[in-house]
Amino acid sequence: MDKNIQKNILITGGAGFIGSHVVRRFITLNSNYNVFNLDALTYAGNLENLKDVERAPNYEFIKGDITKTDFINEFFSKHSFDGVIHLAAESHVDRSITDPLSFVRTNILGTVNLLNASLQQFENNPNFLFYHISTDEVYGSLGEKGLFKETTSYDPNSPYSASKASSDHFVRAYGETYKLPFVISNCSNNYGPNQFPEKLIPLFINNIIQNKPLPVYGDGNYTRDWLYVKDHAKAIELIFHKGKKGETYNIGGLNEWKNIDLTHLLCRLMDKKLKRTLGTSEKLISFVKDRPGHDLRYAIDASKIKKELGWKPSVTFEEGLEQTIDWYFDNKEWLDNVTSKDYLEYYKNQYQE
Ligand code: NAD
Ligand code: DAU
Repeated sequence: MDKNIQKNILITGGAGFIGSHVVRRFITLNSNYNVFNLDALTYAGNLENLKDVERAPNYEFIKGDITKTDFINEFFSKHSFDGVIHLAAESHVDRSITDPLSFVRTNILGTVNLLNASLQQFENNPNFLFYHISTDEVYGSLGEKGLFKETTSYDPNSPYSASKASSDHFVRAYGETYKLPFVISNCSNNYGPNQFPEKLIPLFINNIIQNKPLPVYGDGNYTRDWLYVKDHAKAIELIFHKGKKGETYNIGGLNEWKNIDLTHLLCRLMDKKLKRTLGTSEKLISFVKDRPGHDLRYAIDASKIKKELGWKPSVTFEEGLEQTIDWYFDNKEWLDNVTSKDYLEYYKNQYQE
């Protein structure tokens, strides 16, 4: 670690999908930061995601679990952080339906552990900032019309979104009660390189490669707003530096797609990539039992972050999907590893602990 560097930031969940893009962005664009990446390396965390930057002089990885109160307190007592960017979480809605307690532990208890440990940091450094990375799912579901604004009431429907809503509330409560400086952002669906193939886009890319069915939940008429992960990482860096303390920022792709339309698009792109006859992948589409409590539609009003911080998505969906598909083709080993029987068995046992 370079001792002349001026600031230390802690990024939690930096080995995961979004976290790895945030870590890379901070390491490469902010050489005046020492970046500490704290991650438990669950099934979703993978140090391969950061292979290209792992030897950077301003980077350090620490394997650790945010649910372990003693560990977190001791870890924080040994460091002085100027800011915490908190991404570590259980992030998959379907898993939250079968195992809500894991989401309570990591997303709520883990966040409160970090908040408690941050109070001491704030006492020693009035410029300390706690930044919580959250989701638009806390707002519940939209009908056919309307957009989520920062002022939309919380109305979570899944155990995942309830746990994220709870952690947002704790962050805000620590701001009110203990005056802990904080900022929160609530983002729509991300896609891009390094996403674990359980979420719609990477799952369907992998299944098409493997000639496996594409399980579309219900009638497929559910809508999501998709944002390229690197645009999210850019927004996070901007909010960390320029966001107003105590505020919330909504981040979205301005890019709504019904699941079934997105599935057809992916099938066409994959047929082209695999040099298969157009229509081959569509035959894999299979309508399956719906997700319980399935939110109909998410869509973000991102005018606040645009107006106040000048952010808007820069990558078109066409470019982003092409780059994503290319990434999964160029990283077959990564994909084969995280979908291998051994990998899944190992984490299934941990998950059921
Ligand atoms: P992910 O599942 O890919 O990564 C989560 C990371 O957290 C993994 O590296 C995992 O090892 C780590 N982690 C899990 N439990 C931990 C624990 N107890 N202690 C330490 N580390 C732990 O998630 P993601 O999709 O990258 O999401 C990151 C954050 O962004 C989450 O807070 C999520 O709620 C939020 N978010 C995600 C999306 C999205 O579309 N993926 C959109 C909006 C917000
Ligand atoms: O909106 C932000 C959220 O987006 C994040 O907070 C979550 O961490 C992230 O997982 C994501 O949640 P979703 O539930 O929207 O994402 P997922 O990729 O699981 O599903 C997207 C849509 O596709 C949703 O309507 C369910 C549907 N779906 C999903 C899967 C995995 C299917 O139809 N079939 C599937 O196999």
